[in-house]
Amino acid sequence: MVLVTGGTGLVGAHLVLHLIENGENVRAIYRNLESIQKTKDLFLLYKKENLFEKIDWIQADVIDVPSLEIAFENVEYVYHCAALISFNPKDEDLLRKINIEGTANIVNFCVAKAVKKLCFVSSIAALGDLKENEKIITEEAEWNPEKPHSDYAISKYGAEMEIWRGQQEGLNSVIINPGVILGPTIWEQGSGILFKRIEKGFPFYTKGMTGFIAVTDVVKIAVELMKSDLINERFTLIAQNMVFRDLFNSIADALNVKRPAIYASPLLIEIFWRIDWFLSIIFRWKRKLNPATAKSSYSKNLYSNEKIKKTLGTEFIDIHTYIKEISSLRS
Ligand SMILES: NC(=O)c1ccc[n+]([C@@H]2O[C@H](COP(=O)([O-])OP(=O)(O)OC[C@H]3O[C@@H](n4cnc5c(N)ncnc54)[C@H](OP(=O)(O)O)[C@@H]3O)[C@@H](O)[C@H]2O)c1
Repeated sequence: MVLVTGGTGLVGAHLVLHLIENGENVRAIYRNLESIQKTKDLFLLYKKENLFEKIDWIQADVIDVPSLEIAFENVEYVYHCAALISFNPKDEDLLRKINIEGTANIVNFCVAKAVKKLCFVSSIAALGDLKENEKIITEEAEWNPEKPHSDYAISKYGAEMEIWRGQQEGLNSVIINPGVILGPTIWEQGSGILFKRIEKGFPFYTKGMTGFIAVTDVVKIAVELMKSDLINERFTLIAQNMVFRDLFNSIADALNVKRPAIYASPLLIEIFWRIDWFLSIIFRWKRKLNPATAKSSYSKNLYSNEKIKKTLGTEFIDIHTYIKEISSLRS
Protein backbone atom coordinates (compact mmCIF):
# COMPACT_ATOMS: atom_id res chain seq x y z
CA MET A 1 0.00 0.00 0.00
CA VAL A 2 1.23 3.48 -0.92
CA LEU A 3 0.18 6.39 1.29
CA VAL A 4 -0.13 9.90 -0.16
CA THR A 5 -0.58 12.89 2.15
CA GLY A 6 -2.00 16.02 0.53
CA GLY A 7 -3.97 13.89 -1.96
CA THR A 8 -6.52 16.71 -2.24
CA GLY A 9 -3.84 19.18 -3.36
CA LEU A 10 -2.36 19.96 -6.76
CA VAL A 11 0.66 17.64 -6.45
CA GLY A 12 -0.96 14.91 -4.34
CA ALA A 13 -4.02 14.54 -6.59
CA HIS A 14 -1.85 14.22 -9.71
CA LEU A 15 0.36 11.74 -7.87
CA VAL A 16 -2.61 9.64 -6.76
CA LEU A 17 -3.87 9.54 -10.35
CA HIS A 18 -0.43 8.61 -11.72
CA LEU A 19 0.04 5.83 -9.14
CA ILE A 20 -3.41 4.34 -9.74
CA GLU A 21 -2.88 4.44 -13.51
CA ASN A 22 0.25 2.41 -12.86
CA GLY A 23 -1.57 -0.23 -10.88
CA GLU A 24 -0.60 0.78 -7.33
CA ASN A 25 -2.89 0.43 -4.31
CA VAL A 26 -3.20 3.97 -3.08
CA ARG A 27 -4.42 5.38 0.19
CA ALA A 28 -4.83 9.14 0.53
CA ILE A 29 -5.66 11.26 3.52
CA TYR A 30 -8.22 14.05 3.48
CA ARG A 31 -9.33 16.59 6.07
CA ASN A 32 -12.88 17.25 4.89
CA LEU A 33 -15.20 15.95 2.21
CA GLU A 34 -15.27 19.23 0.26
CA SER A 35 -11.57 18.95 -0.47
CA ILE A 36 -11.98 15.44 -1.90
CA GLN A 37 -14.15 17.07 -4.56
CA LYS A 38 -11.04 18.85 -5.92
CA THR A 39 -9.40 15.48 -6.56
CA LYS A 40 -12.60 14.18 -8.16
CA ASP A 41 -12.75 17.27 -10.42
CA LEU A 42 -9.17 16.62 -11.48
CA PHE A 43 -9.89 13.01 -12.40
CA LEU A 44 -12.90 14.27 -14.40
CA LEU A 45 -10.76 16.88 -16.14
CA TYR A 46 -8.44 14.13 -17.36
CA LYS A 47 -11.44 11.89 -18.19
CA LYS A 48 -10.24 9.32 -15.64
CA GLU A 49 -13.27 9.45 -13.32
CA ASN A 50 -13.52 5.64 -13.36
CA LEU A 51 -10.21 5.48 -11.45
CA PHE A 52 -11.35 7.80 -8.67
CA GLU A 53 -13.23 5.00 -6.85
CA LYS A 54 -9.96 3.09 -6.45
CA ILE A 55 -8.60 5.57 -3.89
CA ASP A 56 -8.70 4.35 -0.30
CA TRP A 57 -9.57 7.62 1.50
CA ILE A 58 -8.86 7.96 5.23
CA GLN A 59 -9.74 11.08 7.17
CA ALA A 60 -6.60 12.33 8.92
CA ASP A 61 -4.68 15.46 9.73
CA VAL A 62 -0.89 15.49 9.87
CA ILE A 63 -1.01 17.40 13.15
CA ASP A 64 -3.47 14.96 14.73
CA VAL A 65 -1.37 11.93 15.69
CA PRO A 66 -4.22 9.48 16.54
CA SER A 67 -5.86 10.13 13.15
CA LEU A 68 -2.64 9.02 11.40
CA GLU A 69 -2.59 5.61 13.12
CA ILE A 70 -5.20 4.07 10.79
CA ALA A 71 -3.74 5.81 7.75
CA PHE A 72 -0.41 4.03 8.29
CA GLU A 73 -1.81 0.50 8.56
CA ASN A 74 -0.02 -1.82 6.07
CA VAL A 75 1.75 1.05 4.36
CA GLU A 76 5.07 0.36 2.61
CA TYR A 77 5.76 3.63 0.78
CA VAL A 78 4.82 7.20 1.69
CA TYR A 79 4.72 10.37 -0.39
CA HIS A 80 4.42 13.33 1.95
CA CYS A 81 2.93 16.16 -0.13
CA ALA A 82 0.67 17.78 2.50
CA ALA A 83 1.70 21.26 3.56
CA LEU A 84 0.40 24.72 4.17
CA ILE A 85 1.55 27.15 1.49
CA SER A 86 1.03 30.64 2.78
CA PHE A 87 2.88 33.93 2.71
CA ASN A 88 0.48 35.61 5.10
CA PRO A 89 2.44 36.74 8.19
CA LYS A 90 -0.58 35.74 10.31
CA ASP A 91 0.05 32.09 9.39
CA GLU A 92 3.52 31.86 10.92
CA ASP A 93 2.49 29.54 13.78
CA LEU A 94 0.28 27.40 11.58
CA LEU A 95 3.08 27.03 9.02
CA ARG A 96 5.42 25.73 11.71
CA LYS A 97 2.75 23.43 13.10
CA ILE A 98 1.60 21.85 9.83
CA ASN A 99 4.87 21.86 7.93
CA ILE A 100 7.40 21.08 10.68
CA GLU A 101 5.39 19.26 13.37
CA GLY A 102 3.25 17.57 10.71
CA THR A 103 6.36 16.28 8.93
CA ALA A 104 7.84 15.14 12.26
CA ASN A 105 4.67 13.10 12.83
CA ILE A 106 4.91 11.53 9.37
CA VAL A 107 8.59 10.68 9.95
CA ASN A 108 7.80 9.16 13.36
CA PHE A 109 5.11 6.91 11.88
CA CYS A 110 7.39 5.91 9.00
CA VAL A 111 10.08 4.87 11.49
CA ALA A 112 7.66 3.14 13.86
CA LYS A 113 5.89 1.22 11.07
CA ALA A 114 9.15 0.35 9.26
CA VAL A 115 8.02 2.06 6.04
CA LYS A 116 10.37 1.09 3.18
CA LYS A 117 10.82 4.59 1.78
CA LEU A 118 9.51 8.13 2.15
CA CYS A 119 9.46 10.76 -0.56
CA PHE A 120 9.13 14.26 0.86
CA VAL A 121 7.95 17.12 -1.31
CA SER A 122 9.93 20.13 -0.15
CA SER A 123 10.51 23.29 -2.18
CA ILE A 124 13.22 25.43 -3.75
CA ALA A 125 12.33 27.80 -0.90
CA ALA A 126 14.14 25.39 1.44
CA LEU A 127 17.35 25.34 -0.60
CA GLY A 128 20.29 27.33 0.71
CA ASP A 129 21.54 30.80 -0.07
CA LEU A 130 24.13 31.92 -2.58
CA LYS A 131 27.55 32.95 -1.33
CA GLU A 132 29.47 35.79 -2.90
CA ASN A 133 30.54 34.95 -6.48
CA GLU A 134 27.98 32.12 -6.73
CA LYS A 135 25.29 32.58 -9.36
CA ILE A 136 23.13 29.49 -9.38
CA ILE A 137 21.45 27.70 -6.47
CA THR A 138 22.10 23.97 -6.23
CA GLU A 139 21.26 21.24 -3.70
CA GLU A 140 24.63 22.00 -2.06
CA ALA A 141 23.82 25.63 -1.26
CA GLU A 142 24.06 26.22 2.47
CA TRP A 143 21.10 27.67 4.40
CA ASN A 144 22.18 30.95 5.94
CA PRO A 145 19.92 31.84 8.90
CA GLU A 146 21.26 35.41 8.77
CA LYS A 147 19.63 35.95 5.37
CA PRO A 148 15.92 36.90 5.19
CA HIS A 149 13.60 33.94 4.49
CA SER A 150 9.82 33.79 4.37
CA ASP A 151 7.98 31.92 7.15
CA TYR A 152 7.01 29.36 4.49
CA ALA A 153 10.68 28.82 3.52
CA ILE A 154 11.69 28.44 7.17
CA SER A 155 8.90 25.91 7.72
CA LYS A 156 9.94 23.82 4.69
CA TYR A 157 13.58 23.96 5.79
CA GLY A 158 12.50 22.87 9.29
CA ALA A 159 10.50 20.04 7.69
CA GLU A 160 13.62 18.89 5.79
CA MET A 161 15.49 18.76 9.10
CA GLU A 162 12.83 16.32 10.34
CA ILE A 163 13.47 14.17 7.26
CA TRP A 164 17.22 14.24 7.93
CA ARG A 165 16.49 13.26 11.55
CA GLY A 166 14.45 10.32 10.22
CA GLN A 167 17.43 9.30 8.07
CA GLN A 168 19.56 9.13 11.23
CA GLU A 169 16.90 6.86 12.71
CA GLY A 170 17.18 4.49 9.76
CA LEU A 171 14.40 5.75 7.49
CA ASN A 172 15.14 5.60 3.75
CA SER A 173 13.98 8.80 2.18
CA VAL A 174 14.39 11.13 -0.72
CA ILE A 175 13.58 14.84 -0.86
CA ILE A 176 12.43 16.73 -3.92
CA ASN A 177 12.67 20.52 -4.11
CA PRO A 178 10.36 21.70 -6.89
CA GLY A 179 10.23 25.24 -8.21
CA VAL A 180 6.88 26.95 -8.78
CA ILE A 181 4.57 24.14 -9.88
CA LEU A 182 2.21 24.81 -12.78
CA GLY A 183 -0.93 22.73 -13.17
CA PRO A 184 -4.55 22.85 -14.31
CA THR A 185 -6.39 25.88 -13.06
CA ILE A 186 -9.10 24.11 -11.07
CA TRP A 187 -6.99 24.88 -7.99
CA GLU A 188 -7.95 28.30 -6.64
CA GLN A 189 -4.39 28.85 -5.47
CA GLY A 190 -0.85 29.16 -6.75
CA SER A 191 -0.62 29.09 -10.53
CA GLY A 192 -4.41 28.60 -10.75
CA ILE A 193 -4.95 32.11 -9.36
CA LEU A 194 -2.31 33.50 -11.70
CA PHE A 195 -4.13 32.16 -14.77
CA LYS A 196 -7.42 33.62 -13.52
CA ARG A 197 -5.91 37.04 -12.75
CA ILE A 198 -4.22 37.29 -16.14
CA GLU A 199 -7.43 36.21 -17.86
CA LYS A 200 -9.23 39.07 -16.08
CA GLY A 201 -6.67 41.56 -17.40
CA PHE A 202 -4.03 41.75 -14.64
CA PRO A 203 -1.94 44.69 -15.93
CA PHE A 204 1.42 44.30 -14.12
CA TYR A 205 4.56 42.34 -14.82
CA THR A 206 7.89 42.17 -13.00
CA LYS A 207 11.40 41.25 -14.05
CA GLY A 208 11.92 38.82 -11.17
CA MET A 209 12.99 35.31 -12.01
CA THR A 210 12.56 31.84 -10.54
CA GLY A 211 12.33 28.17 -11.51
CA PHE A 212 9.14 26.57 -12.86
CA ILE A 213 8.01 23.00 -13.46
CA ALA A 214 4.90 21.17 -14.66
CA VAL A 215 3.07 19.19 -12.00
CA THR A 216 3.14 16.12 -14.26
CA ASP A 217 6.96 16.24 -14.25
CA VAL A 218 7.07 16.57 -10.45
CA VAL A 219 4.92 13.47 -10.09
CA LYS A 220 6.82 11.43 -12.67
CA ILE A 221 10.17 12.22 -11.05
CA ALA A 222 8.89 11.57 -7.50
CA VAL A 223 7.79 8.09 -8.54
CA GLU A 224 11.04 7.38 -10.39
CA LEU A 225 13.05 8.41 -7.33
CA MET A 226 10.85 6.31 -5.06
CA LYS A 227 11.39 3.26 -7.26
CA SER A 228 15.15 3.85 -7.52
CA ASP A 229 17.83 2.73 -5.05
CA LEU A 230 18.61 6.36 -4.31
CA ILE A 231 18.21 7.33 -0.67
CA ASN A 232 19.02 10.22 1.62
CA GLU A 233 19.49 12.75 -1.16
CA ARG A 234 17.63 15.81 -2.34
CA PHE A 235 16.94 16.97 -5.88
CA THR A 236 15.99 20.36 -7.26
CA LEU A 237 13.16 20.01 -9.74
CA ILE A 238 12.79 22.83 -12.21
CA ALA A 239 12.22 22.63 -15.95
CA GLN A 240 13.54 26.12 -16.55
CA ASN A 241 14.32 29.42 -14.89
CA MET A 242 12.02 32.11 -16.25
CA VAL A 243 11.47 35.82 -15.88
CA PHE A 244 7.94 36.52 -14.60
CA ARG A 245 7.25 38.73 -17.61
CA ASP A 246 7.87 35.81 -19.99
CA LEU A 247 5.66 33.56 -17.90
CA PHE A 248 2.82 36.11 -17.79
CA ASN A 249 3.09 36.72 -21.55
CA SER A 250 3.01 33.01 -22.23
CA ILE A 251 -0.14 32.60 -20.11
CA ALA A 252 -1.81 35.64 -21.72
CA ASP A 253 -1.04 34.32 -25.22
CA ALA A 254 -2.35 30.85 -24.38
CA LEU A 255 -5.56 32.35 -22.99
CA ASN A 256 -5.87 34.78 -25.90
CA VAL A 257 -5.98 37.84 -23.67
CA LYS A 258 -3.93 41.05 -23.47
CA ARG A 259 -0.40 40.69 -22.11
CA PRO A 260 0.30 42.55 -18.83
CA ALA A 261 1.89 45.80 -20.02
CA ILE A 262 2.81 47.83 -16.93
CA TYR A 263 6.23 47.25 -15.43
CA ALA A 264 6.00 46.99 -11.64
CA SER A 265 9.45 48.09 -10.51
CA PRO A 266 10.87 46.97 -7.13
CA LEU A 267 10.15 50.45 -5.77
CA LEU A 268 6.54 50.34 -6.94
CA ILE A 269 6.09 46.87 -5.40
CA GLU A 270 7.54 48.04 -2.09
CA ILE A 271 5.01 50.90 -2.11
CA PHE A 272 2.16 48.51 -3.10
CA TRP A 273 2.67 46.12 -0.19
CA ARG A 274 2.74 48.92 2.34
CA ILE A 275 -0.51 50.38 0.95
CA ASP A 276 -2.04 46.88 0.89
CA TRP A 277 -0.98 46.34 4.53
CA PHE A 278 -2.45 49.71 5.57
CA LEU A 279 -5.75 49.11 3.78
CA SER A 280 -5.99 45.57 5.17
CA ILE A 281 -5.95 47.05 8.68
CA ILE A 282 -8.54 49.71 7.89
CA PHE A 283 -10.92 47.51 5.88
CA ARG A 284 -9.99 44.17 7.54
CA TRP A 285 -9.37 42.51 4.22
CA LYS A 286 -6.92 39.70 3.54
CA ARG A 287 -3.51 41.01 2.53
CA LYS A 288 -2.53 40.25 -1.06
CA LEU A 289 1.09 41.34 -0.69
CA ASN A 290 3.58 41.26 2.15
CA PRO A 291 7.34 41.88 2.35
CA ALA A 292 8.16 38.25 1.42
CA THR A 293 5.86 38.01 -1.62
CA ALA A 294 6.84 41.52 -2.69
CA LYS A 295 10.54 40.68 -2.60
CA SER A 296 10.11 37.34 -4.39
CA SER A 297 8.25 39.07 -7.22
CA TYR A 298 11.34 41.05 -8.20
CA SER A 299 14.19 38.82 -6.93
CA LYS A 300 16.21 37.02 -9.57
CA ASN A 301 16.93 33.48 -8.42
CA LEU A 302 18.52 30.93 -10.71
CA TYR A 303 18.26 27.22 -9.88
CA SER A 304 20.21 24.29 -11.30
CA ASN A 305 18.48 21.08 -12.41
CA GLU A 306 21.77 19.38 -13.35
CA LYS A 307 21.68 16.84 -10.51
CA ILE A 308 18.33 15.28 -11.42
CA LYS A 309 19.19 15.40 -15.14
CA LYS A 310 22.45 13.55 -14.51
CA THR A 311 20.87 11.08 -12.06
CA LEU A 312 17.72 10.07 -13.94
CA GLY A 313 18.38 11.48 -17.40
CA THR A 314 15.24 13.57 -16.93
CA GLU A 315 13.83 15.58 -19.81
CA PHE A 316 11.35 18.23 -18.73
CA ILE A 317 8.22 19.45 -20.46
CA ASP A 318 8.88 22.92 -21.88
CA ILE A 319 6.97 25.44 -19.76
CA HIS A 320 5.49 27.37 -22.71
CA THR A 321 4.20 24.13 -24.22
CA TYR A 322 2.76 23.06 -20.88
CA ILE A 323 1.01 26.41 -20.40
CA LYS A 324 -0.74 25.89 -23.75
CA GLU A 325 -1.64 22.35 -22.70
CA ILE A 326 -3.22 23.34 -19.39
CA SER A 327 -4.96 26.35 -20.93
CA SER A 328 -6.70 24.03 -23.39
CA LEU A 329 -7.73 21.76 -20.49
CA ARG A 330 -9.82 24.46 -18.85
CA SER A 331 -13.38 23.38 -18.18
N1 LIG B 1 2.49 24.61 -5.59
C1 LIG B 1 3.75 24.98 -5.74
O1 LIG B 1 4.09 25.87 -6.56
C2 LIG B 1 4.82 24.31 -4.93
C3 LIG B 1 6.17 24.60 -5.22
C4 LIG B 1 7.17 23.94 -4.52
C5 LIG B 1 6.85 23.03 -3.53
N2 LIG B 1 5.54 22.78 -3.24
C6 LIG B 1 5.26 21.79 -2.19
O2 LIG B 1 4.54 20.75 -2.83
C7 LIG B 1 3.65 20.15 -1.87
C8 LIG B 1 2.27 20.08 -2.47
O3 LIG B 1 1.87 21.40 -2.81
P1 LIG B 1 0.51 21.67 -3.60
O4 LIG B 1 0.79 22.70 -4.61
O5 LIG B 1 -0.10 20.38 -3.97
O6 LIG B 1 -0.32 22.35 -2.43
P2 LIG B 1 -1.89 22.45 -2.26
O7 LIG B 1 -2.57 22.32 -3.56
O8 LIG B 1 -2.11 23.67 -1.43
O9 LIG B 1 -2.23 21.17 -1.39
C9 LIG B 1 -1.85 21.07 -0.06
C10 LIG B 1 -2.37 19.75 0.45
O10 LIG B 1 -1.96 19.61 1.80
C11 LIG B 1 -3.10 19.27 2.57
N3 LIG B 1 -2.95 19.69 3.94
C12 LIG B 1 -2.70 20.94 4.39
N4 LIG B 1 -2.66 20.93 5.73
C13 LIG B 1 -2.88 19.64 6.11
C14 LIG B 1 -2.96 19.00 7.37
N5 LIG B 1 -2.81 19.68 8.52
N6 LIG B 1 -3.19 17.68 7.42
C15 LIG B 1 -3.36 16.97 6.25
N7 LIG B 1 -3.32 17.53 5.05
C16 LIG B 1 -3.08 18.86 4.99
C17 LIG B 1 -4.25 19.98 1.87
O11 LIG B 1 -5.46 19.42 2.30
P3 LIG B 1 -6.86 20.25 2.20
O12 LIG B 1 -7.39 19.98 0.82
O13 LIG B 1 -7.68 19.66 3.26
O14 LIG B 1 -6.52 21.70 2.41
C18 LIG B 1 -3.90 19.65 0.43
O15 LIG B 1 -4.26 18.33 0.13
C19 LIG B 1 3.74 21.01 -0.61
O16 LIG B 1 4.57 20.34 0.28
C20 LIG B 1 4.39 22.29 -1.07
O17 LIG B 1 5.14 22.87 -0.04
C21 LIG B 1 4.52 23.39 -3.92
